[in-house]
Amino acid sequence: MTTKPRGGLTVLDHPLIRHKMTLLRDVATSSRDFKQLVSEIAALMTYEVTRDLRTESVEVVTPLETTTGHRISGKIALVPILRAGLGMVDGIVQLIPNARVGHIGLYRDHDTLQPVSYYFKVPTPTADHRFFLLDPMLATGGSAAKAASELKRAGAGDISLICLVAAPEGVAAFATAHPDIPVYAAAYDRELNAIGYILPGLGDAGDRLFGTK
Ligand code: PRP
Ligand code: URA
Repeated sequence: MTTKPRGGLTVLDHPLIRHKMTLLRDVATSSRDFKQLVSEIAALMTYEVTRDLRTESVEVVTPLETTTGHRISGKIALVPILRAGLGMVDGIVQLIPNARVGHIGLYRDHDTLQPVSYYFKVPTPTADHRFFLLDPMLATGGSAAKAASELKRAGAGDISLICLVAAPEGVAAFATAHPDIPVYAAAYDRELNAIGYILPGLGDAGDRLFGTK
């Protein structure tokens, strides 16, 4: 099920996604389970997010006869924003094993909340390339907007953003910076707190994924 649209935002609120998001938010969920859930939710979202992928006809020989099948045409690149976006890659790669994977390193300065870049390596964009930018958290929107700008500067034309939790502030800021990029989220939360965390949210996604707190 999808709820559409809030600006460029589509909320994918399938019952399985809502169920797993509730487990993900739970402070009692272990780092191991958190990792598993992030991967599973990303995989479930992939089904909807890739609905408009282009396909081409191919001949396939079954044990009985030859028929026409379809295969995905064009290239797909997954670009997680480090660190937390990494947790979304495996679930999607299970469904799209040929996807190329790029990486954008950004962290949010604790005082200014501004994104700071430290790494950029993505597959060279071609005309038939579809880029999926991955980050569980869209809070102020600064990190995702900067990552999308870097991707565009590298030549990417067809970009979608997939996140798990989106805050209204982040959705608005991202839509202003990149009105051409669709945003998919598993949940649309209430607001940011005074230090830029999403409420009710799920805490610090990177720390929970990698057990760093
Ligand atoms: C988190 C999250 C996003 C960013 C969102 O990363 O994974 O990248 O914050 O916040 P924003 O929308 O206000 O920019 P963080 O900066 O904590 O880095 P980390 O993943 O390396 O811990
Ligand atoms: N980054 C996170 O990991 N969580 C938030 O709530 C906001 C930014």
